[in-house]
Amino acid sequence: HATTTLGIVGGGTVGGGIVSILTSNAPLFTTMTGKDLLITRLAVRDTSKSRDFITPEGCKVTDDFNDVINDPSVDTIVEVMGGTTLAKDCVFRALKNGKNVVTANKALIAAYLPEIESLVKSVNEDRNEGTKPVEFRYEAAVCGGIPIISSMQGDYVGDEVEMISGIINGCTNYMLTSMDRDGLSYDESLQGASDLGYAEADPTLDVGGFDARSKLKILMRLAFGVDVPEDEISCKGITDLTKEDFEYASMLGGTIKLLGVAKKLSSTEVAAFVSPAYVANDDVLASISGATNAVEVLSSNLQATTYSGQGAGRYPTANSCVNDIIKVCRGDVNPLPFNSKQEGVEFVNDFKSKF
Ligand code: NDP
Ligand code: HSE
Repeated sequence: HATTTLGIVGGGTVGGGIVSILTSNAPLFTTMTGKDLLITRLAVRDTSKSRDFITPEGCKVTDDFNDVINDPSVDTIVEVMGGTTLAKDCVFRALKNGKNVVTANKALIAAYLPEIESLVKSVNEDRNEGTKPVEFRYEAAVCGGIPIISSMQGDYVGDEVEMISGIINGCTNYMLTSMDRDGLSYDESLQGASDLGYAEADPTLDVGGFDARSKLKILMRLAFGVDVPEDEISCKGITDLTKEDFEYASMLGGTIKLLGVAKKLSSTEVAAFVSPAYVANDDVLASISGATNAVEVLSSNLQATTYSGQGAGRYPTANSCVNDIIKVCRGDVNPLPFNSKQEGVEFVNDFKSKF
């Protein structure tokens, strides 16, 4: 068989899951892609740390990701270390080195998606005719295991999205569920979410609503073609919520959820926010518990569709990365960046008066 050689940067919650899924299904992946998948390089911060997964035989472990992205025998890089500084360097240089890149890093995608898309385009234009194009995929970056990116890139190309709304952060939904249903304190519920691998390395990103805002920004680009400065999206997290807020919501027959919403106000304007919101018990979002995410997409043709599933955690997230890796190995074409039907739509952040 031909081989595909992977270099994985990051061996934590997601990286460990990717290694485990790939190594335990090796013959199946060979059947699906026609190639043997070899993980030959792994970069972590601390090589002396014990790992909760088995490092594949023959895989060289390093604490310098440059060893991975500069290895000419590695054709695909999986970036799952997180952050926007070293990870940016890693992803941009890997693409410039002609390597395919799969990442789960929403902060990076939210900050640099248009630049990454331009880079992929220019790298591919400079490649010799007949050479396989470089691919870039990021399914795990939004809602972990839910295939919402490929749905946006595939199922809505002939449609027009009107609104995207829902629960797009698993850590905070796990916390809100624990606080509401199990009566846990804020700190206890955050500890529980971190123990289960749902929280970001800096959990302020989760509880402050910023992780949800990054995902909303990515979805807005895919659905509406707008590139919104992230800090212009109104963002309120869950840090000020108390037990009493849940009691008041319950008195009214509902609960509180952290929602991300992007809604077209007219044919040319889209508005967005992230905020805790009251949700009535008979709303489908009220029953979304734990790290489950749910995204409701309203569009002209398909109308209302809800995508729900595990939005965080090792295996659901790793599953999305593995699917991307398989697509890359098969040489599936890079998808369209966004739906050109929405050309001319602009972001407005003075929407409060219009709702
Ligand atoms: P973890 O903190 O569990 O893992 C990060 C890994 O990166 C660790 O193995 C760490 O090494 C390694 N690392 C950190 N800095 C460096 C460096 N400078 N050089 C080499 N390796 C480094 O994070 P997660 O796995 O949870 O998240 C990874 C990415 O996936 C993030 O972008 C996150 O936003 C995204 N994501 C996470 C989800 C989740 O549910 N956890 C869901 C969806 C996306 P060491 O172990 O030695 O410290
Ligand atoms: N911390 C993120 C969340 C991970 O809880 O949703 C998945 O993106």
